[in-house]
This record gives sequence, C-alpha cells and structure tokens, in this order.
Amino acid sequence: MSKEESIFEFGHSMRSKFLLDSDYIPLNHGSFGTFPKVVQEAFREYQDKVETNPDKFIRRDLIPEMCKAREAVAKFINAETNEVVFVQNTTTGINTVLKSLKYEEGDKLLYFSTVYVSIRKTLEFIRETYAGKVELIEIEVNYPISDDDLIDKLDKVIKEEQQKPNTKIKLAVIDAISSNPGVIVPIQRMIPILRQNDILSIVDGAHSIGQIPLNIREIEPDFFVTNCHKWLYTARSSAILYVSYKYQEKIHPLVTGMFSHEGFVSEFSWTGAQDVSSFLTIHTALEFRKKIGGEEMIQNYCKKLAIEGGNLIASILGTEIIGPESIIPSMVNIRLPIPTSNEEFTEAKFLDLMFNKYNFSVVVFKHNKYWYIRASAQIYTDLNDFEKVGYIVKEICDSFKTM
Ligand SMILES: Cc1ncc(COP(=O)(O)O)c(C=O)c1O
Repeated sequence: MSKEESIFEFGHSMRSKFLLDSDYIPLNHGSFGTFPKVVQEAFREYQDKVETNPDKFIRRDLIPEMCKAREAVAKFINAETNEVVFVQNTTTGINTVLKSLKYEEGDKLLYFSTVYVSIRKTLEFIRETYAGKVELIEIEVNYPISDDDLIDKLDKVIKEEQQKPNTKIKLAVIDAISSNPGVIVPIQRMIPILRQNDILSIVDGAHSIGQIPLNIREIEPDFFVTNCHKWLYTARSSAILYVSYKYQEKIHPLVTGMFSHEGFVSEFSWTGAQDVSSFLTIHTALEFRKKIGGEEMIQNYCKKLAIEGGNLIASILGTEIIGPESIIPSMVNIRLPIPTSNEEFTEAKFLDLMFNKYNFSVVVFKHNKYWYIRASAQIYTDLNDFEKVGYIVKEICDSFKTM
C-alpha cells in the first residue's frame, strides 16, 4: 500500500487508536509493547466467547483456533505452520530451548555481553545444573562497533575455543536486536559461521517481529523466539518459538502436559488449562497493521522517527546516538552527559523522576562507561514527543551534575 492509499496519519493522531493516557509520553514501546483498541476488543471477545461454553471451546475449538493463529504468524515470517508454537514470552521460549537440550562434559555456551539479563541468568542456571561440566563463554561487546568488528570477534573466539582439547562450543545465544543498547545485530552473517562450526544457533528475537523484516527461510536459525506482544501489537502475553524440524524431537515445553511425547506441536498445544486469548489476537493485530498501511510503512516511519528523534535528543543533551543508521531499528540509544563514575546518578532515581514527576518513559542503562537512554519510536509518537523528552532528560541530567 502506498502512502497515498493509507487513510491514517502516523504520529499524535494515532494515539486515539491506543489506550495510552493522553498526558503520558510513551517512548518505551520496546520493553512491554502495547496494543491498539481493536486488539483489546478482540482479546476480550475471545475471553467472553470461551465463558459462554468453556467445555466446548476448550475441548473442540481451542486447538483448531491455535492452529489458525500459528498458520497466520508462520506465514508472516515465512516459516511452516508446524515449525512454530506459541509460548507466553521470549523468556519462556529461550528457557524452553536451553533446558530441553542435554549437555555433556566440556560443552561451552557462547553469548555476547549485551545478552538480556533473564537469558544470562538462564545460561548461568544451566552452568549450575551441570556443575563443573558446562562452561559459559562471554564475548564482550561495547558500542559503537561495526558489524565487521563484531563478526571478527565472534570468529576469533570460536577459533580460539575450538583449538582447546576436550571441549566443544555446543550453542550460541545471539540477539536479533539487543536490548541495551537496542540495536540490530547481524545474525544473518553470524548464523552461517555458527553452522560451519557445528554450533547450534538460538536467536533471541524478542524485539524482531513487527520491528524489522523477518524471514526464517533467509536466516535459517536452529531456534528463534520472538514476542508478538512487543512490536506486532498482539495482546500480552504471546510469543512464538520456531524450532527447525531437525531439532523438534529434542525440544519439550517446560511444563509436561497430557500430550507429552506426542510430537512437537501437540506437546506445546496443551500445558494445562490457561487463557490462550492473547495468541488468538494475532489475526486482529495483522489486520490492523495492514489496514493502517502495512509493514513497510510502519517500519519505515518508526526507523526514520527513531533516527530523527534520537538525533534531536542528542543535540539537546550535547551528546550523540549509537550508530550507524543501518543498525538502528525503531529504537535509538542516546548517550547521557553522565559518566557511570557519577555515583549520584542511579537508575532508581531516574525512574522515580520519570514516573512520578514527568510522566514519560524510556529505558535508562549503563554502557561503555556512560549512562544512556533507549527511546522507542512508534506509530503513535512523533518528533514533538522526542523533543519534550529531550528537554526533560536534560533537566534531569543537569540536576545531577549540579549536585
Ligand atoms: C533481548 C530481549 N530478550 C528477552 C526479553 C524478555 O522478553 P519477555 O519479558 O517478553 O520474556 C527482552 C525484553 O525486553 C529483550 O529485550
């Protein structure tokens, strides 16, 4: 659909399609997402429908409805329906894969230092469970860094580790878009390197679907998890776990249900009674996205706004954003003029001011000796929101500098 064909203007007027408070400046879609009113309506309709006859819905309709939803989302990412199952969120999906796999003495698990904290803790859990047998290998990465340098680092660590006797890198957990900083990671270049070295690729794509184009057949990961409730606008909690056919027999849900050992898709279709309405909102979310202009239009608007808005905030603060533009998705990372050596500045104090005094949201984090904020662009935000947040954050930073 071309811009002329869309009857919707992105930016402030889109706020009426969402449930967000009118006096709140929402520049953190990235953490938990939010969904439009039409999705909320569909979500509640499913819940209401189930209660009209729970027995019939759960015994007869639930599995076919879930199958239709898997079919729609699989098509969207160019995967086969039976390669994807629903899980509640990315944390569950990555836990599912890491805890299903079996480990042997000398196995090593590889990841970058920018890994999401829950995933790092899951890797540490595996190391503790297989005490003395499994080792974690962390590749330190500090932005700004070029894709070439990132790939070189990966290549170098793999070569060094593979030369050591009696050990093997079993798997690597890589982000498609990392969290802090929120940047695109060149997984399409990393996965072939992992494959050549017989290392399983587990992609944490928490932020991928809806934020960047996602084509499983082009990426060819072994495992991929992505949250539909972040950038695709489905109700929370809904994520998909893709598992290549080659490994499906090895992967089981964290909770053993009545279809255990009846095949990958069946096992994940019932892990006890639960509300599956969030998964079923996938159709409404996809329809909404089409209606307002489609993937390209949504993603282009958000990326352009992230770059312009990020640069605007950086100019207000007298700092810079993490680039280059090619690694910026719909989130932008702006350095604060506050080094991490400033002990007065803490995340807790920043969040108190953000929620209680100013009513906006961004993520604040430490990276490479400085504090940064991560701001998300969305179809319901515009440059004006970034400008307002720029001046607020400047006021906050100035108050710490003068302490
Ligand atoms: C890279 C990354 N992985 C995993 C997660 C966890 O997602 P969830 O809380 O939906 O499990 C996040 C959350 O923001 C994330 O940014």
